[in-house]
Amino acid sequence: MQQDIGRGVAIIGCGSAAPDTVLDNQGLSHVVDTSDEWIASRTGIRQRRLAQGDRALTGISAQAGKAALEMAGVAAEDLDLIILATSTPDDLFGTASLIQAELGAIKAVGFDLTAACSGFLFALVTASQFIRTGAYRTVLVIGADVLSRWIDWNDRRTCVLFGDGAGAVVMQASDTSDRLLGFDLHSDGRQNSCLTLPFQGAERSLTPDIAVQQGTYQPIAMSGQEVYRFAVKRVPEVIEKALFRAGMSTDQVDWLLLHQANQRILDAVAQRLSIPSDRVISNMASYGNTSAASIPIALDEWVRQGHIKPGDVIAASGFGAGLTWGAAIFQWGQSDR
Ligand code: UT7
Repeated sequence: MQQDIGRGVAIIGCGSAAPDTVLDNQGLSHVVDTSDEWIASRTGIRQRRLAQGDRALTGISAQAGKAALEMAGVAAEDLDLIILATSTPDDLFGTASLIQAELGAIKAVGFDLTAACSGFLFALVTASQFIRTGAYRTVLVIGADVLSRWIDWNDRRTCVLFGDGAGAVVMQASDTSDRLLGFDLHSDGRQNSCLTLPFQGAERSLTPDIAVQQGTYQPIAMSGQEVYRFAVKRVPEVIEKALFRAGMSTDQVDWLLLHQANQRILDAVAQRLSIPSDRVISNMASYGNTSAASIPIALDEWVRQGHIKPGDVIAASGFGAGLTWGAAIFQWGQSDR
């Protein structure tokens, strides 16, 4: 039972980029009271990449986008749309336009989309709607974050988890098949306080009667155990729903591609879905949690290393702040296996 389609969608190229600077767990133990043993055993993370500079998000996003375009064999001038999933824009008015300029994607419209660690998944589904209606033919979807800007580097409960990076995919209309087989997306704002990066302002009076709030964003605050419990419960559910919509079962899944938050979450979800560990994609040891970038970076590594083959079925799921969560079932590449 496939979802109704106008045109089909194919995901035909991917790319990723991460900053050069590496901070490993040992190095981090000089910043806060922690250890490689604690971080690795509780999360699976060994190191993270950290970005420098005010335009870092634009830089790594464009790099990832270029690599994806190259793999897809698509020229930047042929892009119709760029969606940048991020919670850490270089410019709060939107960073997709800066990437559009850097790529030379002269006829593409670009906009940012914010759904934290679910951002890439939400952007992938958003892009597919533009393609299915026939509005746009070729779309670049980027997931990128530089959360190091917003981490409290004195808080060992959060600073050990996150890293910076960018990943991208090229999606294109297909008249012969539809490779996005099913999806399901959710939000629950009642649980917003579990994971926030909130604006905090102070009142400034403009006139005796009128005041405005001026301020900036506060560092990430997270209730780790609550988010953990939410992920382990909701992620298997949402994958099963997306699989149902695709008319498929878990034994037809070649790869489980989850947001790379914690190896224990990956293991628990795989166990709940009875998916063997050799079909679970994991690279958080090298990058930490890169938020909206984690799914496309992991996809790119597994494709370039030759593990994921054209036609393979991937069950992807993002989850995080909002709270938000979602899943998409898709087949990789243009050709059948
Ligand atoms: O991308 C968004 C999605 N985010 C997530 O999915 C995060 C989900 N949550 C998690 O991954 C886990 O809850 C964490 C990795 C964040 C924490 O693991 P935990 O097993 O839930 O640890 P905890 O918070 O219960 O802390 C256990 C102990 C505490 O000490 P006491 O109170 O038992 O003495 C903490 O103070 O570990 C201590 N602790 C640390 N010790 C060394 C917390 N952080 C650290 C640290 N190094 N970095």
